[in-house]
Amino acid sequence: MKPVKVGICGLGTVGSGTFNILRDNSNEITRRVGRSIVIEQIGARRDNPSCDTTGINITRDIFDVVNNPEIDIVIELIGGTSIAKDLVMQALENGKHVVTANKALIAECGNEIFAKAQEKGVIVAFEAAVAGGIPIIKSLREGLSANRIDWLAGIINGTGNFIMSEMSQKGRTFDDVLAEAQALGYAEADPTFDVEGIDAAHKLTILASIAFGIPLQFEKTYTEGISRITAEDVAFAEQLGYVIKHLGIARRTTEGVELRVHPALISSKQLLANVNGVMNAVMVKGDAVGPTLTYGAGAGALPTGSSVVADVIDVARTLTADPTNRVPHLAFQADSLSNIDVLPVEEVECGFFLNMSIQDKAGVLANITQILSKNGISIESLIQREREGSELVPLVAMTHDVKEKAMTEAISAIEALPEVSGPVQRIRVESLL
Ligand code: HSE
Repeated sequence: MKPVKVGICGLGTVGSGTFNILRDNSNEITRRVGRSIVIEQIGARRDNPSCDTTGINITRDIFDVVNNPEIDIVIELIGGTSIAKDLVMQALENGKHVVTANKALIAECGNEIFAKAQEKGVIVAFEAAVAGGIPIIKSLREGLSANRIDWLAGIINGTGNFIMSEMSQKGRTFDDVLAEAQALGYAEADPTFDVEGIDAAHKLTILASIAFGIPLQFEKTYTEGISRITAEDVAFAEQLGYVIKHLGIARRTTEGVELRVHPALISSKQLLANVNGVMNAVMVKGDAVGPTLTYGAGAGALPTGSSVVADVIDVARTLTADPTNRVPHLAFQADSLSNIDVLPVEEVECGFFLNMSIQDKAGVLANITQILSKNGISIESLIQREREGSELVPLVAMTHDVKEKAMTEAISAIEALPEVSGPVQRIRVESLL
């Protein structure tokens, strides 16, 4: 059979991993596909010293790649949503299949991109867009396709998890760990995307669409980062038997769908609590299978390249298949997506960890517990500690499940008490049940 010809756009971290896997594992890949996969052309602004591109047609204009009539599959690894979108749309217009690692592009422009791909009878594959090397898209879209998915929760940003793990386990500073994540190629071009949860929100948007068969709705995903979490919060959580992780959560409820990214306390006994460093893990709860967990490297050249190349292999295998019988882009048939409401965060119900700075005098605790009780909030545990050399002491409360709007009202009232100093730190608690 004649070889499948691919064009790679972008030769950065993921581009180099993809290139080297295609080269190093070419025999194994040919044995899997039944035909060879050849790198026909590379479009990149500059060479990458970790790739020996001798003998390969390299262009500085990435649009040469999508307009090259020899190429069957365009691999988009430039990132971003402007040029990358034009590139992908042009590739689809030219009847080429596309493999991409671009989560922002899929989360923000996926509905339009998939419609164009559908019209042209081509595939857009994006396993590498979510959780680096973990085959979570394939798992959700195919392996779990018998299930009605109830919820999923994951650590889906390697940089953020690396920062939180190194800070809590080794006492390193935020800036120091972030600089290392950037040097290792884990972090986004703009690292606030990692730290403020935007990258995780892109990934969650994609996972939720595939899990529930809903259109991509990035703009409705509630997003909160890790930059406000303090060493004191981490220590109190640990004392209570919890670990703070930055989670992406999508849950189906009777009122709609929750889509949220925020730091959360989870029991230290949970497998997810032990996912550290750049590793990612996603729990999926299906009605038939029960809870499942997939785990692996969430970023980096070879792990992400592994997912890109797996998609290339998938596309190569289906090149001769009838387009109407392919696995749909968002797991459900395009005309069967449902418009379930995405719930505002105020409607979400969960437990809370509150960390307050209060004056240590008679009646303060009573005032706080009264406010919580007035808002229907039941306390699970309370810790008050001495803080040396300060009139203010930390008071930590863990609550039972309550709607976010009730908690917001209670926190406003607590913050208005003259004996309470500064804002109340609120971190949600997830039981993952
Ligand atoms: N910046 C991302 C992360 C890269 O750290 O997870 C992989 O998407």
